Amino acid sequence: ADEPLVLGIETSCDETGVGLVRGSTLLANAVASSVEEHARFGGVVPEVASRAHLEAMTPTVERALEQAGVRFSDIDAVAVTAGPGLAGALLVGVAAAKAYAMGLGVPLYGVNHLAAHVAVDQLEHGPLPKPTIALLVSGGHSSLLLVPDVARDVISLGSTVDDAAGEAFDKVARVLGLPFPGGPHIDRAAAQGSGTAVAFPRGKYDDGTLDFSFSGLKTAVARWVEAKEREGGSVPVADVAASFQEAVVDVLTRKALQACRQYGVEDLLIGGGVAANSRLRALAQERCDAAGVRLRVPRPGLCTDNGAMIAALGSELVASGIGASAWDIPADSSLP
Ligand code: KG4
Ligand code: ZN
Repeated sequence: ADEPLVLGIETSCDETGVGLVRGSTLLANAVASSVEEHARFGGVVPEVASRAHLEAMTPTVERALEQAGVRFSDIDAVAVTAGPGLAGALLVGVAAAKAYAMGLGVPLYGVNHLAAHVAVDQLEHGPLPKPTIALLVSGGHSSLLLVPDVARDVISLGSTVDDAAGEAFDKVARVLGLPFPGGPHIDRAAAQGSGTAVAFPRGKYDDGTLDFSFSGLKTAVARWVEAKEREGGSVPVADVAASFQEAVVDVLTRKALQACRQYGVEDLLIGGGVAANSRLRALAQERCDAAGVRLRVPRPGLCTDNGAMIAALGSELVASGIGASAWDIPADSSLP
């Protein structure tokens, strides 16, 4: 018999993601983003995101079914992001998933968004090594995880004490007059500049913990740019972008490898939107090679928020025999 067909629904931030996975095979990954509606505010506006999810849900599900070439009635289980994320945004996905699962008479699985960022890599690179260390870096989270088993056991080793890494990219981009979301623009500008032009501070660099801090760096960049403008000089955008980016990826890769060493783990996975950063990918590869650590990074379309990652973790839960969620499972914005 065929492996179970799992529908995955993601609405924790500004992407309405719907994925279809059979076993560990990716069949569809449809994403509708409201990012352009938030651009003029310089950040994601929760109410705007919730309304956009509501409007995009049905068409995005239909698009995913079409991509996969399956019918609605073929679905064997529904998985949905239960948290963490924006409360109102999560609620739209959870309500939709409950309705779909009840209507179909199939089990419902509420999943953790961060664990799903890890599980998605299996769709591209095969079964995850057990254990693996995962570095998750996006606009909403910066976390180091120890993952003995993505369906049953995910342990948080550290996270940011202030801004998320992607948030720092977005805020620094704004200071430099680059559009939102700023990460890709900083990445591109930095390619023309020098990462050693300005020595920006590296928060929590060697404090021994596996936590991050990016707000001091963000402030240092803003001060540096202000001072330059006060002098009447022109701001060397490429050099500032490259030096800021270097500071972020230096700390991220250093702490990720510190976690590998500390826990004796030889596999590192990097996920989340910031994993698309070209300098992060290059430096991580360089440092992993030197340390004898194997590196896995999903392709960019699977790193940013999407429904396939939710379906991937749902599929893992179905296979593991862990029971389905209760029908009254809440959307939990601060799910640990
Ligand atoms: O995972 P994601 O799509 O959404 C969440 O925040 O959950 O991540 C979006 C973040 C944004 O902050 C964006 O600026 C950042 O990922 N990002 C990048 C790059 N591409 C996206 N940051 C640095 N370099 C990039 N190439
Ligand atoms: Zn995410």
